[in-house]
Amino acid sequence: MACGATATNEPGIERFARFGYEDFRRFAIDDQISKYNKIGFPDSYRRGFEEAIFADICRKLSVLEQKEIIVLDIGPGCGDLPLMMLKHGETWQHRLVLVDSPEMLAYVPDRPFVIKVAGMYPANADAVATVAPSRVEALLRCRLG
Ligand SMILES: C[S@@+](CC[C@H](N)C(=O)[O-])C[C@H]1O[C@@H](n2cnc3c(N)ncnc32)[C@H](O)[C@@H]1O
Repeated sequence: MACGATATNEPGIERFARFGYEDFRRFAIDDQISKYNKIGFPDSYRRGFEEAIFADICRKLSVLEQKEIIVLDIGPGCGDLPLMMLKHGETWQHRLVLVDSPEMLAYVPDRPFVIKVAGMYPANADAVATVAPSRVEALLRCRLG
């Protein structure tokens, strides 16, 4: 089923679905496209919806409302979600490990409790394991390219 077609003729999700890590790197530095397009979504899928998406993540991953846990997010991208993760993580005193390309990670503000591991997972799995050892309480992982 084709999905994502909108009244504004915005390209649908199918156009973005075939992209992988290297494509996302290019998108990250393309200043002609929106932050939602950079992470592979038509604007109509994300603009105005990311708070609801984040609330849904928190509902499903209830461990996110525990203090001092390690949260590993592989592929946080550059939408609103990583910023919400940051705010939430600060409140709950999480250690937040973010794994993505250097181009994407550049959009996420540096914070003392945030550890960025640049590069393509799982090629950088050893570096990830160093900062997120055995005790990871919450793992978010998008479809990896
Ligand atoms: C579809 S976007 C999702 C972004 C975010 N999780 C969200 O839902 O808003 C995919 C993200 O994963 C990253 N990514 C894709 N494959 C990856 C891989 N093998 N290793 C690390 N990051 C990857 C891309 O750079 C991009 O930022």
